[in-house]
Amino acid sequence: MKILVIGGGGREHALAWKLAQSPRCTKLYAAPGNPGIAQVAQCVPIGSDDIDGLLKFAKAEKIDLTVVGPERPLIAGIVDRFEAAGLRIFGPGKEAAQVEGSKAWSKAVMSHSAVPTAEFRAFTRMAEALHYIDNHEEPLVVKASGEAAGKGVFVCKTQDEARRAVEIIMKEKAFGPSGDAVVIEERLTGEEASILALVDDANIYMLESSQDHKAAFDNDQGPNTGGMGAYSPAPVVTDAIQAQIDREILVPMVHGMKTEGAPYRGLLYAGVMVTAGGPKTLEFNARFGDPECQPIMMRLKSDLVEVLEAVLDNRLDQITLEWDPRPALCVVMASGGYPDKYEKGKEITGLAEAGAMKDVVVFHAGTKAEGGKIFTDGGRVLGVTAIGQDITQARDRAYEAINAIHFHHAHWRTDIAAKAIRRLA
Ligand code: AMP
Ligand code: GLY
Repeated sequence: MKILVIGGGGREHALAWKLAQSPRCTKLYAAPGNPGIAQVAQCVPIGSDDIDGLLKFAKAEKIDLTVVGPERPLIAGIVDRFEAAGLRIFGPGKEAAQVEGSKAWSKAVMSHSAVPTAEFRAFTRMAEALHYIDNHEEPLVVKASGEAAGKGVFVCKTQDEARRAVEIIMKEKAFGPSGDAVVIEERLTGEEASILALVDDANIYMLESSQDHKAAFDNDQGPNTGGMGAYSPAPVVTDAIQAQIDREILVPMVHGMKTEGAPYRGLLYAGVMVTAGGPKTLEFNARFGDPECQPIMMRLKSDLVEVLEAVLDNRLDQITLEWDPRPALCVVMASGGYPDKYEKGKEITGLAEAGAMKDVVVFHAGTKAEGGKIFTDGGRVLGVTAIGQDITQARDRAYEAINAIHFHHAHWRTDIAAKAIRRLA
């Protein structure tokens, strides 16, 4: 069968890498892909937001299954467009993708459905948001309501920081129209986990747990990024916590979206804070996490094509996912300066050496190829991913591979999985 992956980041490389291993996949395309993806798929120069172009390509090539990586085409309604044209595509429709596309909508469904989450208020007027902050001395989190690639969230220690965040979002419009509304939340404390679940019309199937590292620098310092590293499984998600997340968060949310007339189908990502009072939802995303997808794909033994088809055919209750019991871990190598300003076009060396190491896969995110060489081309450049007998071995392998890779002004966190290693010690 002919498969098309939409996107060109680390998550899409991991998806393409896994799809290419399926005996069911006879031809794999990626739009636009990247030089890493090009090792396993034919890349076509169509942007992931160019829905008309993607639709035309999928029709012309008679694509049997399209897999959407990033949120933007989902929020823009790519699934509805493909389905109207009779094409099979994995992901939620436009209405349901609001779970990520509008934090205000998502929060409203959570509150109607009694899904545990931080107390919140949504504002479309800046003066009202500032007034609310004046009356709240406790630590607050200020978020652009629309999609902002994980960067529109400000975890604030002081009221001044919260006021400044509102200005950045609503006055300076740092995230464009995504900042037409802000959500202001109580700040939750605890350890975070990412819960990815497959959802069809009647079933929910949780994947193995994972944990992201959102802050740019070690010890969770610095600004939020799209994610600087991830590992799976996350020991903070015990069996009991996992059951609680299923029962208290996923089931009511999926039901709530149905009730809103926006039934969800695809991969639902719940960002959860495991607090002293139990797991609480930070956010939902409408797609695989990036970089969580990288360690998860490395651990998945089942055929991903069959898994995605089970969702599209509402057969999730008939499949059992098989996992490599060994932990996997991804460290993101980023361009120095990310998530703020950074330079592109730096030559990357050592990729072949790192990729040849045992149980290591170097997923490409922001890279480009020119004249037989690979150059940096984005904030997050590579996702160096390794699997090991235990999380310490997986970590050591990933960092050993990183030591083989070089580009000017490379930045990575040195403490990926430190929380898990402390917890297991
Ligand atoms: P979001 O995109 O909404 O998940 O927010 C990105 C990150 O900001 C989360 O992964 C958390 O690290 C942090 N965050 C978001 N909301 C809260 C909250 N209510 N309390 C504490 N931290 C939060
Ligand atoms: N890694 C966080 C996300 O994909 O949203």
